[in-house]
Amino acid sequence: MLLDVQNLKVSYGNIEALHGVSFNIDKGEIVTLIGANGAGKTSTLLSLARLARPEAPAITGGDIIYDGKSILKTEPHTLIQNHLLALVPEGRHIFGNLSVQENLHLAAFPHRHDPRRAEIVEETQALVFELFPRLKERRRQRGELLSGGEQQMLAVGRALMTGSGFIMLDEPSMGLAPKLMYEMFRALRRLNQEKGITILVVEQNAKVALEFAGRGYVLKTGEIIASGASEELMANPDVKKAYLGG
Ligand SMILES: Nc1ncnc2c1ncn2[C@@H]1O[C@H](COP(=O)(O)OP(=O)(O)OP(=O)(O)O)[C@@H](O)[C@H]1O
Ligand SMILES: [Mg+2]
Repeated sequence: MLLDVQNLKVSYGNIEALHGVSFNIDKGEIVTLIGANGAGKTSTLLSLARLARPEAPAITGGDIIYDGKSILKTEPHTLIQNHLLALVPEGRHIFGNLSVQENLHLAAFPHRHDPRRAEIVEETQALVFELFPRLKERRRQRGELLSGGEQQMLAVGRALMTGSGFIMLDEPSMGLAPKLMYEMFRALRRLNQEKGITILVVEQNAKVALEFAGRGYVLKTGEIIASGASEELMANPDVKKAYLGG
């Protein structure tokens, strides 16, 4: 098991956002966490990435086991430096005043002490451009001039540049036209199949997420209320009614 989240509780001040959430992911899996607005999806990812950001909630209970070891006390920069995980955050977070290529190169910082750094950057950038040819065409363009969908691709590209074998994405479909959305998920599936990258994707768009992932968990107001193989969840009457439009 790559990730084992055990009875995780997190709070923003006095308000508990996750009330004991448990789920797990095996190496090489694609798993989705679906739920409505405010269910706690972003809170879950932020807790896993343990970003030292003001918006990250405090962990008040439970444990997060990564590759057999608790990472509750691991510094966020250590998680990233050791290529353990990368987060593609909600709302993209790219550098608008830097070019596509500069954005990609900056994201490769976990490799900075590696003697093969230049090669790794070159190879990974080639992979990003192969997955997202639009980014290649626009590689000298400033980030802020990209369309929303292209910025989303760049955010995924930046996660790849970190060299992490485990990528978490917060609503990658948001704001994307269907065609771009499917392109994005196709690229992610290729990464999973060809590079063995483990993926945790959080989505409000339950239908798309369950079609993409092999397995899923349903989060509702800070609790997991259902879980199972995607086909099982898609056939579950409660899930259908609440998340799949009947
Ligand atoms: N910075 C914050 N301060 C206080 N409460 C917060 C903060 N961020 C989130 N919350 C609360 O925590 C709960 C879970 O929010 P979270 O952002 O994790 O939901 P989400 O599932 O990602 O929703 P969405 O689909 O809208 O992105 C909500 O009740 C929300 O109001
Ligand atoms: Mg969210």
